Amino acid sequence: MRRRSLGWTGLELTELTLGTWGLSGDGYGPVDEATQDRVIERALALGLACFETAASYGQGAMERRLARHLRGIPEAVIVTKLGTFRDGSPPRKSFDREYLTKSFEQSAERLGRDVVDIVLLHNPSLPTVEHGEATETLAGLQAAGRLRAWGVSAGTPEVARAALGRGAAVVSLAFNVFHSAAARSLTEQIATKGAGMLAHSALAYGLLAGLWPVDRVFVPGDHRADRWTPDELRQRIRQLDAIRPLVDGKIPTLRGAALRWVLTHQYVSSVILGPRSVLQLDQLVREVGRGPTYLTRAQTTALAARLRDVGIEA
Ligand SMILES: NC(=O)c1ccc[n+]([C@@H]2O[C@H](COP(=O)([O-])OP(=O)(O)OC[C@H]3O[C@@H](n4cnc5c(N)ncnc54)[C@H](OP(=O)(O)O)[C@@H]3O)[C@@H](O)[C@H]2O)c1
Repeated sequence: MRRRSLGWTGLELTELTLGTWGLSGDGYGPVDEATQDRVIERALALGLACFETAASYGQGAMERRLARHLRGIPEAVIVTKLGTFRDGSPPRKSFDREYLTKSFEQSAERLGRDVVDIVLLHNPSLPTVEHGEATETLAGLQAAGRLRAWGVSAGTPEVARAALGRGAAVVSLAFNVFHSAAARSLTEQIATKGAGMLAHSALAYGLLAGLWPVDRVFVPGDHRADRWTPDELRQRIRQLDAIRPLVDGKIPTLRGAALRWVLTHQYVSSVILGPRSVLQLDQLVREVGRGPTYLTRAQTTALAARLRDVGIEA
């Protein structure tokens, strides 16, 4: 598994990270515990050495499960996120010093680590970041030697920009073929600050795998049920035609093309995968290939033109 540096943090991450939101059963519907265990073990066997989670995933259960599998593997990097509670719907947020400090200690305990590798604020609002208390709290924990790098999982470029301005060394952003403008607007600041970028939602929640019928219906509890109207989904599925020409003997599937496109961007430190089964994980790791070069300049340029033709700025 190839590695990339996480900005100037001194941390090296495998290019592929195992994300655990989908696996936790939150967001997409239930996943049984045996599958959760098998996916984590398979990720280790495939050489993934970075694992992304959150205090809220399974209300702490995912942190505990990761700890069980990663015990005795101190070189496995763990990224966790704080500030969201899923004890009701919609989830609550809290980023004040007292809560964050307590939540950090609980996560460190669940993860079985005195020093947590990477801690991110979990989708804070812009005023929360600008207020400064949350970023100062994480900076204080780093100064005390309790975490190695901190940052933000940002829903908007403004939040990421504000956090970078306050010393964040890591930003986690949705970044995929259909959704890249926000991340691209930050690349200069990310480079100037020496920050690292984690890319999540690389398959646009599964859409970019290109396997859905145009009338796909999502079960209640699957966040995708509220993400697109039927017309929007039909349009999104039509727009996949812009990516299809990348699929050939070397790139066997759309999902492989989508992942390669993300990894083509050198400012991405690692792609957070979201498999919900061993089969999905195997497919993703196999089809991403062993780059570089993941995609040639000619391929990305032609893709950008085709995306523009279907109304997507890439
Ligand atoms: N705020 C944040 O920091 C944040 C936000 C989002 C995600 N993340 C992290 O990033 C990870 C991935 O992001 P994501 O869940 O938003 O989006 P994603 O990776 O774009 O999509 C995940 C979905 O893609 C489908 N999928 C996965 N592997 C597949 C395969 N081999 N073939 C076909 N479909 C496949 C699955 O859908 P089906 O259920 O239909 O099989 C899965 O639920 C999450 O698990 C989470 O850990 C972090």
